[in-house]
Amino acid sequence: MRKNIVAGNWKMNTTLPEGLALAKGLDEALKGKSVNCDVIIGTPFTHLASIAAAIDTTKIGVAAENLADKESGAYTGEVSAAMVASTGAKYVILGHSERRAYYHETPEILKQKVLLALAHGLTPIFCIGEVLAEREAGKHFEVVDSQITASLFDLSTADFGKLVLAYEPVWAIGTGKTATAAQAQEIHAHIRQTIAAKYGKEVAENTSILYGGSCNAGNAKELFSNPDVDGGLIGGASLSVDKFLPIVEAF
Ligand code: PGA
Repeated sequence: MRKNIVAGNWKMNTTLPEGLALAKGLDEALKGKSVNCDVIIGTPFTHLASIAAAIDTTKIGVAAENLADKESGAYTGEVSAAMVASTGAKYVILGHSERRAYYHETPEILKQKVLLALAHGLTPIFCIGEVLAEREAGKHFEVVDSQITASLFDLSTADFGKLVLAYEPVWAIGTGKTATAAQAQEIHAHIRQTIAAKYGKEVAENTSILYGGSCNAGNAKELFSNPDVDGGLIGGASLSVDKFLPIVEAF
């Protein structure tokens, strides 16, 4: 079922006490409020269990920011889908452009991660998006289509239906440069068409597609008012309750 979602991506920020305080602050701020979207926070692995235990996870879903591409075993330093699921986290951000660029995550690796997440009952928030040179060359549609096809289009219809997608133009991430509402709508509609061509109109209509990249309290309302923009994946502005809450309330 298509949902409105506002998800925070804390990235490699906050110590455990700082992260706990942030999560509890958000939990407190949302108490007694009825909001028109699902709220998720993506936190470092080290914080997941403590945060999931400290907040009302029926109101705020907890997400990991990555997963191993292996089930278990001799992979020193890796964190598996089963481990993440055992913390109480229900979501995992996969395919973020920072993981693709700095940690060389290929479409094939991401495909494995998506399968493992699904096998352990986690909802992937799967990120796609072009870099500036690709946008300037008019290749953005092609780029997102190939990212989706390579990592996700071997999934069954039932499994694809469990995903959340996040379109994040790399040139807008952490740069203060946001895609215009029209640019976001144009490519989100295109992504939905690509999904419809593979899995049918119903699946496409039921897929939540979030926008990410310098989304903030000032631009969230306009971005989210587009028919194909179902919410946001929020980096910088998810690191304080004061900045994140107005984005949640933009719906
Ligand atoms: P930003 O990050 O909101 O700081 O641009 C978004 C993201 O990387 O998910």
